[in-house]
Amino acid sequence: MHHSLPSTVEVREVGPRDGLQNEDPIPVDDRVRLVDALSGTGLSRIEAASFVRPEAIPAMAGAEEVMARIDRRPGVVYSALVPNARGAERALAADADELQVVVSASETHNRKNVRRSVDESITGVGEVVGLVGHEGDRPVEAIVSTAFGCPYEGDLDPAGVAAVTLRLIEQGVDRCSFGDTTGMATPRRVDELLDALEDVGLVATDVGLHLHNTRGTGLANVLAALERGVTRFDASIGGLGGCPYAPGATGNIVTEDLVHMLADMGVDTGVDLDALVAAAHLAQDLVGRELPGQVMRAGPRWNTVSA
Ligand code: COA
Ligand code: ZN
Repeated sequence: MHHSLPSTVEVREVGPRDGLQNEDPIPVDDRVRLVDALSGTGLSRIEAASFVRPEAIPAMAGAEEVMARIDRRPGVVYSALVPNARGAERALAADADELQVVVSASETHNRKNVRRSVDESITGVGEVVGLVGHEGDRPVEAIVSTAFGCPYEGDLDPAGVAAVTLRLIEQGVDRCSFGDTTGMATPRRVDELLDALEDVGLVATDVGLHLHNTRGTGLANVLAALERGVTRFDASIGGLGGCPYAPGATGNIVTEDLVHMLADMGVDTGVDLDALVAAAHLAQDLVGRELPGQVMRAGPRWNTVSA
């Protein structure tokens, strides 16, 4: 049944950014410790910070310091999220290896998130690409958020999501990922989005997925995407994230839960599961609340006796 799954998958760790931005702020030193623990697990891509207005996201203040103090392991790509050209200038000065820009497929969500129209954001992506172009070989990735539905507008036409994607590619982004910002995705929605992207010429290997586990469908969505040939997934250690003020809210899909499932299915991620579980416990200690990761609690193997 699974003979057609990809043999390798790239897991990008986004806990230090998407996870921590939704937790109560923790000190820069602790953010640096977390990134360094993660880079020791075999993960090759880590979203380490975001260069947004500190007034907008207090937990991401001090992004420059985080980038300056982490121990840069050769072979690991340390990326940063930027909301605009000002953020891109900061990220380049801090020597981020790769930049993520976010544009919502939904007009309403985009305005709430970055106070701009989708058109303005797409133009802004062009400015970011232009800035980065002068600084050598640093890829820019666009994350199309609310790609599986919008909390304000409800269902979005997948063809509309694909159209926004094409406009981002026209602005010169190097690759695209699709964000399930509020956990609306199901395997059906994953299939429908991949169909719509295919209709405009984007194949599975052009697609990255940024899934959240808000409604418990995260790994089911991963499997649906794997069966279509998708090989790039974002995840956060321990399931960091969600919102401390919204009971029941959860973050991204859980890195170690994802790696555990992939490993058992023979899909290579290059990541050491035991090291990830240790990093998940560190993350839990740093934020001081129980994280939703399940493998970190149950143990990575059936015969593991939990301490
Ligand atoms: N980093 C630091 N400061 C920034 C900045 C950035 N990336 N972008 C703008 N600013 C500063 C400006 O310099 C200006 O400062 P001044 O008042 O001292 O001159 C001030 O912020 C207002 O600029 P403006 O362009 O009007 O920004 P805004 O207030 O409309 O905010 C965003 C727009 C996008 C910068 C802000 O909403 C933001 O950072 N949002 C984060 C969204 C996010 O991370 N969401 C989660 C991930 S998808
Ligand atoms: Zn996210």
